[in-house]
Amino acid sequence: MDLELVTRETSNDAAVTVLRAKAQLRAALERPRREAVSIGLVPTMGYLHDGHASLLRAARAECDLVVMSLFVNPTQFGPGEDLDRYPRDEERDLRLAAEAGVDFVYAPPVEEVYPEGFATTVEVRGPLTEVLDGDPARRGAAHFRGVATVVAKLLNSVGPDVAYFGQKDAQQAAVIRRMVADLDIPVRIEVLPIVREPDGLAMSSRNAYLEPADRERGVALSRALAAVRDAALAGAPLATALAAGRAELAAAAIEPEYLEACDAETLEQRSELGERPVLVAVAARVGAARLIDNVLIDPANR
Ligand code: PAJ
Repeated sequence: MDLELVTRETSNDAAVTVLRAKAQLRAALERPRREAVSIGLVPTMGYLHDGHASLLRAARAECDLVVMSLFVNPTQFGPGEDLDRYPRDEERDLRLAAEAGVDFVYAPPVEEVYPEGFATTVEVRGPLTEVLDGDPARRGAAHFRGVATVVAKLLNSVGPDVAYFGQKDAQQAAVIRRMVADLDIPVRIEVLPIVREPDGLAMSSRNAYLEPADRERGVALSRALAAVRDAALAGAPLATALAAGRAELAAAAIEPEYLEACDAETLEQRSELGERPVLVAVAARVGAARLIDNVLIDPANR
């Protein structure tokens, strides 16, 4: 792998510097850090869409210097998952990053992140990583171990003031918040709203796997979540509201892996709306893609 510094320019004169090695990253950030410039980090696995772009825009608006990481992290994929076919298009990602005003893209090869002898992982224990996607019958706790470990490494390598994540992966965001609090990592975590297609489908790099007919069926996830939210806010018990959501999925011939209502912070199951915000989360296989989506119900803020 060529570890030369590469600067890509786009047709509109936007440019971004691509760094492949931790040492390059550290060198590039040394001076800004000394000059007390604020640094924002947006971690991604690439194949950028408007969800990623919303995080880049927020970082650009709030920080002096924006770093985007671009790394398809093998340790967060299970044995039967889609690591080999995960969509990639680095050229396009670099162009979009440049246009979004990103200063540095950190795009290391796997050996740079996991060199020989690598032996340490970060594990957030407890309900947070055991429920929903963390259930052993689904992605399992190992998925979040992979996420927590790589995000801890990225936070240590970049040393950002703020790191940006999407509510699309609500459980991932909760796990990262817990890790940052528990390990005293000096960074502010920002979690931004889900960006959707005009018909409601949550944007995802994995939507690229959907055949046209499945793309249509996939909209049922956001319809189901809206049905649960509407029924719950109208006063239905959560079990009844969830049944309304399941009916929307069934109408599209979708059998969910889960459709659950839980505490938005601890992810513990909830049976009543109560005072604290409720997260309604869904996961389902639709054609060749495994889709996730969620909605927050904040009774204080209807
Ligand atoms: P990736 O799936 O590329 O997502 C990068 C970031 O974009 C995540 O914080 C994710 O929640 C956010 N995102 C994805 N789709 C979104 C949408 N429709 N609206 C708003 N935000 C959205 O998540 C990962 O990568 C990885 O697990 C990573 C954190 C980079 C660690 O490897």
